[in-house]
Amino acid sequence: MSIVFLNDSYMPMEEAKISPMDRGFLFGDGIYEVIPSYDGQLVGFAPHIERMKNGMQEIGIKFDWSVDKWREVTEGLIEKNGRGNLGIYLHVSRGTDSKRFHAYPEDVAPTIFAFAFEIAAAPVADKAQAKGYKVSTTRDLRWERCHIKSTSLLGNVMHFQQGFEQGANETLLFNANNELTEASACNAYIVKDGVVVTPPLDNQILPGITRFMLLDILAKDGTIKVEERAITMDEVFSADEVWVTSSSKEVAAVVEVDGKPVGDGQVGDVWQAAQKLYSAGKHNY
Ligand SMILES: Cc1ncc(COP(=O)(O)O)c(C=O)c1O
Repeated sequence: MSIVFLNDSYMPMEEAKISPMDRGFLFGDGIYEVIPSYDGQLVGFAPHIERMKNGMQEIGIKFDWSVDKWREVTEGLIEKNGRGNLGIYLHVSRGTDSKRFHAYPEDVAPTIFAFAFEIAAAPVADKAQAKGYKVSTTRDLRWERCHIKSTSLLGNVMHFQQGFEQGANETLLFNANNELTEASACNAYIVKDGVVVTPPLDNQILPGITRFMLLDILAKDGTIKVEERAITMDEVFSADEVWVTSSSKEVAAVVEVDGKPVGDGQVGDVWQAAQKLYSAGKHNY
């Protein structure tokens, strides 16, 4: 049985009920996080909560649980659902109003929802065992506030579905200048001549926590050079390696883009080295 948290208590998922007048339901008016936990050990908890607080501040949701309170709820879900490989989903919507009116309502309490779901085991930094991802590409047609981790995910969902229908695991997105932004649910990278390149943080991409930790770990180690700059479509198609990162995938090696092999079509050496460093350093955040 899956135990979830709604507003102020834990309950079986079947018993969790919210009003259809909740603005999360009517407008996608909310902020969320997904935090991975392996055998009870959370990865990146503090930066995940910081991003959620930033998101709430940006969209004017006044809700100020402490980091400790979020940790208590998160650890409660892990204990109640059994340790293992879990994604912890945290969600704050603006709350339930009596009418459907676009303006932010005054004096409405936010709705808090959290649940745990199973994720794959963390990748092992071994080229021979690694899953090679296949991705397709398309024009990024989402909004211009992609730095907000909003529950309004229809743009991302439609992009993911486009790739999914073509048998791809993810969809790489390109802006009107044919520059790589990110993927529908991951940040994106290329590797060329041993250098890792990823688009800079701006309103076109989510400031991924895996991205933050990976770049920090690589900078501290110093053996793999990283550049944050625009990446053209041509560069993606001539890259030695392509990666996508997210909390539930860590660093995932892409071996095929739009049916064409990336480099030699195999998971690359730089991926192996980077995932090894990430595996060793990810619990320090
Ligand atoms: C659009 C998008 N970009 C990037 C990411 C990766 O973010 P994180 O590493 O924080 O999981 C996600 C994760 O859900 C995402 O939805």
